[in-house]
Order: sequence, then C-alpha cells, then structure tokens
Amino acid sequence: MLLPLLLLVLTAVLAVVLYKQAYERPPNFPPGPPRLPVWGSYWLLLLQDACWLYRSAWAMADRYASKVIGFYLGAFPTVVVHGPELTREMFNRAEFAGRPDTVLTRVRAFGKRRGLFFTDGAFWVEQRRFALRHLRDFGFGRRMACAEDTLRDEVEELLALVRGECDDQEVASRGCVLLPHALHVPFVSLLWSMFAGRRFTRAEHAQVRAVSKAAATFVRNVDPMGGAVSQTPWLRHLAPKATGFHGVKTAGAVLTGLVKAALDEHVKDFNMDEAPRDFIDHYLAQITRDKADGVDCASTFCEEQLQVMGADMLLAAATTTTGTVTFALNWLSRRPALQRRCQAQLDAVVGRARLPSLDDRASLPFVEAVLRETLRRNTMLPLAMPHLTVEDTKLDGYDIPKNTLIFANVNSAHMDKDYWGDPEEFRPDRFLDEKGELLRRDVTMPFGAGKRLCPGETFSRQSMFVVLAALLQNFWFELASDKVTPDCCLPGLTLTPKDTWMRATPRA
Ligand code: HEM
Repeated sequence: MLLPLLLLVLTAVLAVVLYKQAYERPPNFPPGPPRLPVWGSYWLLLLQDACWLYRSAWAMADRYASKVIGFYLGAFPTVVVHGPELTREMFNRAEFAGRPDTVLTRVRAFGKRRGLFFTDGAFWVEQRRFALRHLRDFGFGRRMACAEDTLRDEVEELLALVRGECDDQEVASRGCVLLPHALHVPFVSLLWSMFAGRRFTRAEHAQVRAVSKAAATFVRNVDPMGGAVSQTPWLRHLAPKATGFHGVKTAGAVLTGLVKAALDEHVKDFNMDEAPRDFIDHYLAQITRDKADGVDCASTFCEEQLQVMGADMLLAAATTTTGTVTFALNWLSRRPALQRRCQAQLDAVVGRARLPSLDDRASLPFVEAVLRETLRRNTMLPLAMPHLTVEDTKLDGYDIPKNTLIFANVNSAHMDKDYWGDPEEFRPDRFLDEKGELLRRDVTMPFGAGKRLCPGETFSRQSMFVVLAALLQNFWFELASDKVTPDCCLPGLTLTPKDTWMRATPRA
C-alpha cells in the first residue's frame, strides 16, 4: 500500500517539477515553445523539421505570432530573430557580437578557443583586425593587379577543364562538368595565393578537392544550432559519428593540417628582414616581434591560432562561393531566357576576344543581379552563425539576458513575402531599375552585417562575379539530370548543393 502511494507522490512531484521547468523562463523573455527534459525545446524544433532548423524556427515564430522567439536549447536560453528589420538590428548591435563556446567549436581548435569563427572579445578583435589588414596587402577585400592576374589564371585553367582539356575525369567528362567540385580549385587557390603565397599546381588539384570535400563534410556535420552534442557533450563518447563530432574533428584536422604544412615550409626560409611574401609571413613576423617583447604567445599570436584561422578561411572559401556559383548555374539552366540575357550582355560589353574582368562589373548589371538573386534565394547560411549576448539587453521590447544564444533567421528576411512580394520566384530583375541598372539599395544580408560581417564578402563577390561571367561567356549550361533542382541541397551549417553534373556546350 505504501509503495504505490510513494510512487504516486513521486510521480506528482516529478510532474510539477517538469511542468515548472517547461514554462520557466527569464522575466520578459520572448515567447516560444516549452522546455522539455534534457534538450529543452530542441526536441520540438526537430519534430517540426529535423533537417532545416531555420524553417522550424520560422514556423514557431508564426505560431507564437512574434518575430522574436525564445526557448531553451538544453540548458542554454536561446533567441531567434525574424524579418528584415530585426535581423539587421540584431547584426548591428555590439551586445550581440559574442560567440558560444562548445565542444564542437573547440574540437577543431586544439581544444581551445581559436580562429575567427568562434572567438570573441579582445582576442577576436585583435586577430580579425590583423588578418584583414595584412590580407589586404595581397588583394583580399580590395582590387589589386596581382590578385586579379591570379584570378584570371585560375579562370583560364577552369575553362580548359570544362572544355575537357585537362584529363580530369573525376570532375569533367564527355562535355559535362561536376559542380561544385570543378569550382573548388579556382576559389581555394586564389585564397591560398594571398594566405600562403602560391597557387596550387595542377598536380595538387586532386588534393585541393579532397580538402574541399573535408570542408563540405565539416559543414554538413554541424547543425547551425550546435546540435545535441553541444547541449549534452557526453554524447560524443556514446555516438561520435551520429552527433557529427567525429566528422567535425576529422575534417577540421584536414584543414588545419594543410595550413600547418604551409607554415612548416615558411618557417624553413622565413626572414624577418625581408618583405613579407604572404599572410603567413606577416603572422610569423608578429609572433617573432611578440617573442622579442616578452609577450605571452599562448594567449595572442601563436601558430595554433594561425592554423585555425587559415582553416576557417579555407572552409568558407571551399563551400560558400562554390555553392553559390553552382546554385546560380542551376537556376540559369532552368531559366534559359535568363541565361541568354546574361550572355547577350556579356557579348555586348566584353565580346569573345578577352575574358571578363572586374573592370566590366559595373557594365554587367544583369550578371551581378543574378548573383544577388542567388545569394537571396539560396541563403547560404540561413541562420548566419550563432551569436551570444555579451550583456543584459533588450530587443523588440523583450529582455535578453547576458549569455543568451541568439540567431538571425536571415532566410526569413530574404523570403519575407511582405517585402519581396514573390520571394519563391528566381527573379534577378528585382535588383534592377527600369533602365536595367543595379539598384543602389540592397537590403539582403547574405554575408551578415555589423561587427561580425563576413570578412570574405568583397573577395567572394569579386571572384564569384569573374568566374560566373567567364563560364557564361564561354559555355551554354544545361542540367545533365532533371532530378537536381536549385533547392536540392544538403543541410548543415551552410547549405551545400548536391553533386550536380552539368552539360557545358561551348558557345558558337
Ligand atoms: C558566398 C560566399 C560567402 C557567404 C554567403 C558568407 C557568409 C557569411 C556569414 C553569414 C557569416 C556569419 C556572420 C555572422 O555571424 O553574423 C560569415 C562569417 C565569416 N566568413 Fe563568410 N561568407 C562567404 C565567403 C567567405 C569567404 C570566401 C571567406 C574567407 C576567405 C569567409 C570568411 C568568413 C569568416 C572568417 C567569418 C567569421 C567572421 C567573424 O566571426 O568575425 N567567408 N560569412
């Protein structure tokens, strides 16, 4: 008699505790789903749409009739912001510029907080500033003849590959080309020429593609909200593969390994008294200066930080730019009239005797509009990257405590019906005025905004423009299979297109 009574009391107490926990939240926190045991509201997000969490969050924003929703991911209070205005406001406010610190962010960074993606505070400010300042010396984020020459060389090699002149059956065969894989070399090699002082040779192209595959594995293994392993780190011991922990660890090691090999080469003949040959030399010079000044290298400039920073950049260059150009070509194959308009503009402005260059960018507004529309319609990072509030603050009338995870649902801004009218439609003309000129105002935020704005924005926009323009100048693109739609992509931290074979017919 006593035991059933005891069980009844225990069950009742447990029910009260769980009920209280489910609805307990910080005062004046945004509305949102209840907090269930262990993973909090993550269960409900997964139930809504296990693949695409930005869709789950948006559906919940609709359900709670609020552009700002709040819930718990495990023990972490979390907020997701929707719509163009609030998303921009969140990006632009310094209180939201922190980053979370989890097992996943550390496993790729020697167990520490290193790199640019997942660091914050004074360390991140100093490293980001240093990287941007010195990469600029080699054409990153600005126009520079040597970088444009390298880009032209890369484009020439790409065109030869697509024409089938390179005997590289893995990515180009019988008039067809495999995307995004065929695009990895030009973007990664351009970045590498600034970071490590040289392009990859043809013999190294297979290695570049292997590294890029590792980058894709990496982003596909990371759920933009960190996944179950960030909330319950012990899971990495029980299910390292299923939680993505193993994928992130091994792919991260491939990326840092490539930077380490370049670093070791540089150290052999580094000379402090000569002009830096590339970004690695700049970084080695700073390490040397710090050592001479007695600065603690473990906390500021150190080789591990250089490796993770390089891995961050390789990861971004190998996935986002290649993915965007793949999506653009996929749309143009499905909208032949739009492809013809690009080519007509290219023929009129550039002709066929030379390759398009950055000088032509202002005169090719339609090609530029195609890229802008692709970046809108296929938002590469639909939830951007996780931010963290660094102090107690307010947003849209709600209180957001310090150390709250906060996401900008960029996709909700890019697909907002009230703003765009027909967001589902691929319509580059929405970025042009009645004379066919680019509108000065572009409200999209594919690269984020504010203090965490993607440092690769200019590099990406410039290189994607030149690569896409050159491909369209020289080939007519059709999908080799009808099965791959432009929305056919794999989930992860960024969208990655599925492997797409395209028929590339040389233009008459
Ligand atoms: C189509 C191309 C690209 C897109 C759409 C893109 C988009 C983004 C977005 C949305 C963020 C997060 C912003 C935030 O957290 O608020 C980001 C961060 C970042 N991106 Fe990109 N990116 C692209 C290419 C690149 C390239 C080529 C590089 C480097 C070579 C790069 C390096 C970075 C870095 C280092 C960060 C972290 C910055 C920080 O937290 O301070 N990205 N990018």
